[in-house]
Amino acid sequence: MSVKSEPVEQIAGLRERIRYHEHRYYVLADPEIADGEFDELVRQLRRLEAAHPELVTPDSPTQRVGGNPAEGLVAVEHTLPMLSLDNAYGESELLDFDRRVREAATGGQTGLVCELKIDGLSLALTFENGTLVRGVTRGDGLRGEDVTANVRTIRSVPLHVPALRHRGQGEKVEVRGEVFLPLDSFRKLNREREKNGEPLFANPRNAAAGTLRTLNPKVVAGRNLDVFLYQALVDGQVPCRNHSEVLKWLGAAGFKVNPEWKRCSSVQEVMDFCRLWEGKRKDLDYEIDGVVVKVDSIPLQHDMGETSKFPRWAVACKFRAQQATTVVNDIQVQVGRTGALTPVAMLQPVRLAGSTISRATLHNLDEIARLGIKIGDTVWVEKGGDVIPKVVKVVENLRPPEARDFAPPRQCPACQGEVRRSEDEAVLRCIDPACSAKIKASLLHFSSRKALRIEGLGEALVDQLLEKGLIQDPADLYALKHEDLAGLDRMGDKSARNLLEQIEASRKRSLGQVIFGLGIRHVGERTAMVLARHFGSLENLSKAPQETLESVFEVGPVVAESVGQFFVQPGNRQMVKKLRKAELNLEEERAESSTSDLEGQQVVLTGRLAELTREEAGRMITRRGGRVTSSVSKKTAFLVAGEEAGGKLAKARQLGVRVMNETEFLSLVRRQEDQPHAGEKTAHHSGT
Ligand code: IVH
Repeated sequence: MSVKSEPVEQIAGLRERIRYHEHRYYVLADPEIADGEFDELVRQLRRLEAAHPELVTPDSPTQRVGGNPAEGLVAVEHTLPMLSLDNAYGESELLDFDRRVREAATGGQTGLVCELKIDGLSLALTFENGTLVRGVTRGDGLRGEDVTANVRTIRSVPLHVPALRHRGQGEKVEVRGEVFLPLDSFRKLNREREKNGEPLFANPRNAAAGTLRTLNPKVVAGRNLDVFLYQALVDGQVPCRNHSEVLKWLGAAGFKVNPEWKRCSSVQEVMDFCRLWEGKRKDLDYEIDGVVVKVDSIPLQHDMGETSKFPRWAVACKFRAQQATTVVNDIQVQVGRTGALTPVAMLQPVRLAGSTISRATLHNLDEIARLGIKIGDTVWVEKGGDVIPKVVKVVENLRPPEARDFAPPRQCPACQGEVRRSEDEAVLRCIDPACSAKIKASLLHFSSRKALRIEGLGEALVDQLLEKGLIQDPADLYALKHEDLAGLDRMGDKSARNLLEQIEASRKRSLGQVIFGLGIRHVGERTAMVLARHFGSLENLSKAPQETLESVFEVGPVVAESVGQFFVQPGNRQMVKKLRKAELNLEEERAESSTSDLEGQQVVLTGRLAELTREEAGRMITRRGGRVTSSVSKKTAFLVAGEEAGGKLAKARQLGVRVMNETEFLSLVRRQEDQPHAGEKTAHHSGT
């Protein structure tokens, strides 16, 4: 098909403008236009690309989040090994390093560059002719894992770098740096996981590692990973004479470089830099664990060379960890909303990194076993990026004779009900749906900001309401009267009225917020919205069979089962009934889900198509909000079978999955083209 030059140019112009503003926003943190204006540019580009799918290129800013979840990560060999760094502990080891540099320099330039040591994971990005083609983790230094699809979702990573484009055919540019999760994103992620009853990430580094290895790029896109680059290789060669120039070269090309680096002419200056950042690290919104000191001169770096593990021209000055020792007075068990029993170490209060610590989570039984911790032990506690401090080590030689093991609870400490440990989890759970601690946690969740947002319903008040038997589940809140509340502790006439107003206002929250507020295990905020849009009412959701739940885009078998389980429990059914009676908003406009709309549907293509290429067919599906997957399962909405279709066709027949030929598929898609608003309204714009 021939394309008029106009859209080609419009598309190129929009891409250039979007790239420019992405760079201003995500790399320089210095936006020039408002978010709304930026979104409008992206919308225009999407519209044009939708009208000219043949012009969509993988490096278009609209193509950050794409593709299907991978089945696994593929190992990739590094062209040049990714080395680690030797550590220098204390000033004397830094002085040793400086001496070695001077000896090697034989009177030449001995400048050193100090950079912050970002506590993340190293990553190599390859660009061919200016376009990002691969992102690989460090792995063991020789081979890493291909995480390209995930790296593409990191907004500070450019998908296309025009500055690298015109440097001759076949040229490969590799940039290396550190991926990390900013602290606020890490805290937010853990808060969500806590609410959903999922295990917490121990620190931002683990969270970044887990995220980067996630198989679904859509999940990664929502997590806000970021990156700082500090190395560049053009066809295997450093493109500058000095490392400080490399950092500038990277910045000028459009890569994100940590601004806090310094060229030092003396080791004294290096020490000052380390001291300065040891004090200032707490002000950063990402974690650092030291300073990396590198020889500035690239020829001198070559002369000094490397061992099999470390370069001899660089060293990491690690900060003293923010740790303290204290005594474990007890290990208590906390009951969460999903019934998860979390062991918590009750500590002799100790000052650490600006606050007093008296509790630290021990996560689960496996963690207790791993630490080998006993009640009475002296332990090292550490404050990571999260507010929750953790126990990192037991000081065994300080163990008193009376130290005793933690006995895992046989009963729920709150309701004395039965406790179970499922096979695939290290977590114990109270299985009694009527457990008071669970009910309390569920009430607090129900009224939390992202759920029904009932302000003023704090812990103390919930305790009183439960004790007085005024409520048993969240739905009872809607039956509360002024006289019920006015008599409670610290509750006057005015606060009672305020609370009733808040409860009243919460009846108008969206269906998604209500579903989230129910506290169904594994149903986070986003999943709740997806379910609301798909099912359109709480009634439909509560009656949905497992297969229907599983067929919803973004809902896996685990979530589906959890939702099913929730609605079979008589207590929950009763509560839903009461919510309906209380006239909460239990309906929502539903996403079109007739055959004329592929929103959320998984489609498999197989065999040889006559009229369309695979790519064209794929684009038609994704443009209508559907997703192309590679294998047939119960979740497949339909299979498009071309000529010589084989195993997939057989599998679809066996599973009873709908099969259509190319003509049927085309007529289905063309029917939609006739009614564009159905698709447009629901098309998936999950970020660029
Ligand atoms: S340079 C050949 N610079 O620290 C030199 N590494 O403990 C390679 N790291 O594997 C590393 N910030 O993942 C360098 N500014 C920085 C760094 C940095 C963090 C990481 C990197 C490395 C690890 C070694």
